[in-house]
Amino acid sequence: MRFACLVMFFLFQAGFSFCLETQNKELNFVIFSDCHLKDTTTIGETILKNIIDRVNVDESNPEFAVCLGDIVELPKNASIQRYDRTIDKYLSITGRLNIPLHTIAGNHDLEHGEIASKIFQEKIGPLFFTLQKSEYLLIFLNSESVEKNSEQMQWLEKIFRKSKEKKIVFMHKPLFAVHLFKSFNIFTTQYLKDFFEKNNVFVIFSGHEHFFYQQKYNRILQIIIGSSGGNVRPAPEGGNSSFQYCRVKISGNKVNVEVVPVEISQKEEIFTK
Ligand SMILES: [Fe+2]
Repeated sequence: MRFACLVMFFLFQAGFSFCLETQNKELNFVIFSDCHLKDTTTIGETILKNIIDRVNVDESNPEFAVCLGDIVELPKNASIQRYDRTIDKYLSITGRLNIPLHTIAGNHDLEHGEIASKIFQEKIGPLFFTLQKSEYLLIFLNSESVEKNSEQMQWLEKIFRKSKEKKIVFMHKPLFAVHLFKSFNIFTTQYLKDFFEKNNVFVIFSGHEHFFYQQKYNRILQIIIGSSGGNVRPAPEGGNSSFQYCRVKISGNKVNVEVVPVEISQKEEIFTK
């Protein structure tokens, strides 16, 4: 009897700690943005390759990677073949990653018309989607279409109606832009801010500005990730201007982001010029 009680006690303990672990598992991932690849060889391409190599041996053991868009940078009137080739280049470079990669589109990826947008969706994936990870709902958005009543926002409203968990948003353009010319119009900004706050979004990851900068706006922490190939721009005080990827750890409401600068050697620079 005593032995049976002991076994029951240990089973209960093991089950309890397993439940705690699965419910409160820390999120651990890497994130990069704004590769700005072309169909010709560029320094940006070497930077992205170096980022993938670094992530593959990253000692933080990330579970997955996120790319926040602007994969492609071509003249607006570039042919579909050039766009297609550049998307293939992205897939060939990132195909060497040994963890899953979730990619969203940026403004440059979606400025080449409907056929290009279809190529993006066929080869890379949907323009908006969600993922459940541990206690969090991850929401990946197309920031080119976030106006109230747009198809995407109607889809998101339905999801928010059913889901009460903590939410993390990924979208190329920041909700609170540092440079005003990079922001949404005032109505969309206010709508998204209210909508996200009301629905338990506590952190937003964006790119678009080509520097790293994090800032809390009322209840939402916004983290802007720097460039992984596009021109690096000067960051505001407390930010970081470098080619980079970031390590992210999230536990409860605590978000920890570490910038990992990635450089290229002089030899690589000469080779790609
Ligand atoms: Fe960009």
